[in-house]
Amino acid sequence: MIKRIWIMTLFPEMFKPFLECGVAGAAFRGAREGDIKFEIKFVNIRDYSTTKYKSVDDSPYGGGPGMVMRADILKDALIKGVLEAGGYQSLSDLEVIYTSPRGKVWNAQVAREFGQTQLSTTSKDLVFIAGRYEGIDERFLSLYVNSYYSIGDYVLTGGEIAIMSMLDSAVRFLPGVLGNNLSSVADSFEDGLIEYPQYTKPREFDGLDVPSVLLEGHHKKIIEWQDEQKVQMTKKFRPDLIK
Ligand SMILES: C[S@@+](CC[C@H](N)C(=O)[O-])C[C@H]1O[C@@H](n2cnc3c(N)ncnc32)[C@H](O)[C@@H]1O
Repeated sequence: MIKRIWIMTLFPEMFKPFLECGVAGAAFRGAREGDIKFEIKFVNIRDYSTTKYKSVDDSPYGGGPGMVMRADILKDALIKGVLEAGGYQSLSDLEVIYTSPRGKVWNAQVAREFGQTQLSTTSKDLVFIAGRYEGIDERFLSLYVNSYYSIGDYVLTGGEIAIMSMLDSAVRFLPGVLGNNLSSVADSFEDGLIEYPQYTKPREFDGLDVPSVLLEGHHKKIIEWQDEQKVQMTKKFRPDLIK
């Protein structure tokens, strides 16, 4: 089954390296083993501009700094570029997502939920809208957007990096994406703690040895050491997570 993910953006080229590199890129290129194969489709919002100079924005009513993306152009991009081009019956076949500081704040738990719901079913295809400038005319948002996500309490210059962050962190929870399916379970935040420290070759580096417990092959002791280290690392680096 194919799950299409549409990305409405002024900068589709920003996604090229994301799709070409690493395990997330492979998954979104449709290379992953599994029931659902992803197909990423881009809609360049500028292609739907009707103005002489292909602008997509205009100054805000009421004044204020910056420019606002026009509702009519975004509507055309959504209806003609996604709905009609994709052969959908109606907008209810699509989940339209806008990345915005007003949205639900993204974290490990939200990423897992998104991965295990939105990325794991084919009932609706997804449409991400990347804002630019000061954002999008509220009338378009109120009529066409189903959900809002923020990647944190700071302001980006555009939604593209937010979309890539969301897709990258959510797809890790799908079977077959990470080399070892247990990787996502052992990663930071899964049990509310930061990951234990990791070591590889060489055994001695700049006068520092690998902790001896990791070399002794005693599985139970290794697990106990790792559990204790998670607590220590969290206290040291993220004391705010220790309740
Ligand atoms: C310069 S921002 C607009 C910020 C807007 N004027 C405000 O104050 O909330 C341009 C675009 O970047 C994206 N963006 C900015 N910060 C974001 C965040 N924290 N999470 C997700 N998307 C964000 C949104 O799509 C937004 O429309």
